[in-house]
Amino acid sequence: MGNTKRLSVNGPIGVFDSGYGGLTILKGIRQLMPEYDYIYLGDNARAPYGTRSFEIVYEFTLQAVNKLFNLGCPLIILGCNTASAKALRSIQQINLPKIDPIRRVLGVIRPTAESIGSMTKSRHVGVLGTIGTIKSESYPIEIKKLFPDITVTGQACPMWVPMVEYNEFNNEGADYFVQKYIYELLEKDPTIDTIILGCTHYPLLINKIKKYTPQNVRLVSQGDYVAESLRDYLNRHTEMDVRCTKGGTCLFLTTESVDKFEESASIFLGQEKIKVQSISLE
Ligand code: DGL
Repeated sequence: MGNTKRLSVNGPIGVFDSGYGGLTILKGIRQLMPEYDYIYLGDNARAPYGTRSFEIVYEFTLQAVNKLFNLGCPLIILGCNTASAKALRSIQQINLPKIDPIRRVLGVIRPTAESIGSMTKSRHVGVLGTIGTIKSESYPIEIKKLFPDITVTGQACPMWVPMVEYNEFNNEGADYFVQKYIYELLEKDPTIDTIILGCTHYPLLINKIKKYTPQNVRLVSQGDYVAESLRDYLNRHTEMDVRCTKGGTCLFLTTESVDKFEESASIFLGQEKIKVQSISLE
């Protein structure tokens, strides 16, 4: 399937995530550009990706990309840091030229890296993410390419995604692990003045993260920056913009059951009434 040449078509913008977290990215994008059509695909049955190997994340992400292409998406955003860190480059360089060189797959790490250059004064930046994202070193690599003078320190926060997915993020128990990871990060580099929330789930923990972060440290949530970067991309690439249909619709696809998706998605989307379909990627 990865080698099938397809004709370029017009269709919705695809947003992919391992599960629910990409909904924070989709939300930011839809707020800024409500006129476009979107398909959100969550591989909920196989989430989380954060602890999975490079090979598996690449294989699963490629399956999702092919599915969204088959559904007519000319442009896909990997709204997942782990997939962006482990699969994006290979998909762009190896698969996309064979599948359809006119379609595009973009990630969330580059736009976030671009945004921090003007934010940090101390030139010391922290990144919080899944084990996979931190181990991949994708943030330090991307940031160094753009701003060689910035020192980047990473901290994996393996307990945060489950705390959000089990709806425990507003409870007292969550404080322990929020404080723990932030203190560990700041202990490694106390001169950090900007922290990237490098995982799609973390914006839901923002109130607790703020509680344990010194006031002079700026927190960077990705949704807004990814949305602005996408708008900028479509403004610069009008040949892609005309392929992205504009009807204001949003379809949600999940590899899990529809009921389960609807229930958990409400943590991220509030009361919005959504149209969900169950699909298979294998
Ligand atoms: N969406 C993932 C990310 O942004 C977090 C959830 C997972 O581990 O699958 O890294």
